[in-house]
Amino acid sequence: MTEIVRKVSDLRASVARWHGAGDTVGLVPTMGALHAGHLSLVRAAQADCARVIATIFVNPKQFNNPTDLAKYPRTEPADLALLQQAGVDVLFAPPPEEVYPLGFATTVSVAGVAGPLEGASRPGHFDGVATVVAKLFGMSRADRAYFGQKDWQQLQVVRRMVADLNLPITVIGCETLREGDGLAMSSRNTRLSPRARAIAPALYAAMTRAASDLRAGKTGALKTCAATVLAAGFDSIDYIDLRDADSLEPLTAPTSTARLLAAAWLDGVRLIDNIPV
Ligand code: PAF
Repeated sequence: MTEIVRKVSDLRASVARWHGAGDTVGLVPTMGALHAGHLSLVRAAQADCARVIATIFVNPKQFNNPTDLAKYPRTEPADLALLQQAGVDVLFAPPPEEVYPLGFATTVSVAGVAGPLEGASRPGHFDGVATVVAKLFGMSRADRAYFGQKDWQQLQVVRRMVADLNLPITVIGCETLREGDGLAMSSRNTRLSPRARAIAPALYAAMTRAASDLRAGKTGALKTCAATVLAAGFDSIDYIDLRDADSLEPLTAPTSTARLLAAAWLDGVRLIDNIPV
C-alpha cells in the first residue's frame, strides 16, 4: 500500500523509522504524469533499496514560461494507481507552501555545466531544478536518488551539485525508455496532437543518423540533422549539438565521452533527446 505524504515532518518520520531498521532508502523525484520511463526508475530504485519514495511536485521555480507551467499535465490519481501497482512505499506530494514556505529566500545555482543548451534556452530553469532537488534530498534524507538520462544535462547538474555540496546521497542515472518508434518517453508527449505524435520520432531518427555520420567523420552531420528534423515537420530547433557528456563543453569531433543533445519544437511542445556518439 503506497502511503501519500504531504508534510516534510511525516516524510522524515517514515525515513527515520526505515533507517532505524537498517533499510536503504531510494528516492525517485518526478513532476507526475507518470509513464513507463518513471516506472523504470522505480524498479531501479527497488532493485537497490529496501524502501522507495516517489515524489510528485510540479516545481514552479523551474518553469521560465508560465504557459508551460499552466499546461503541465497533473494526473495525481492515475499516478498514485501506478505507484501502488509498482509497490512504492511512499508518494511524497507536498503542496507548494510546504516546499517554499513564506520567506523562502535561497537559490541553488550550479555554474558551468548548467550554462549551455537547456540553460541558455531556458534561463533560470536549472536554478529551479537544483534548488528543488537539493530540497527533496534534504527533506527526504534518502540514500540514493534515481534520474532518467533523457534529461542528460539535468543529471550532470545534479551530480555537480551533490559533489560540490558534499550531499550524502548517491545519484543514479537510468537509461532513457523509448516508444516502439524511438520517441523518448516524456510526460510532454501527451500534449502532442496525433499529427505531431506521428512526426515526433523523426528527432531520434535524425540524431541516430547524425551520430553515425559523426563517427564516420562526415562533415556537416549536425546541419544535415537539423535540416532533416525541420523537413520532417518540426517548427524550430533550439539546439542540436555535440558535447562532452560530463562537462557539456562543445566538441568539434566525437571523443570517447561525446554526446549528441537536441531540443526542438513541434506544435507548441518542446521535445528534448540525447544519445551517445
Ligand atoms: O525531471 C524532472 O521531472 C524534474 O526536473 C525534477 C528532477 C523532478 C525536479 O523538479
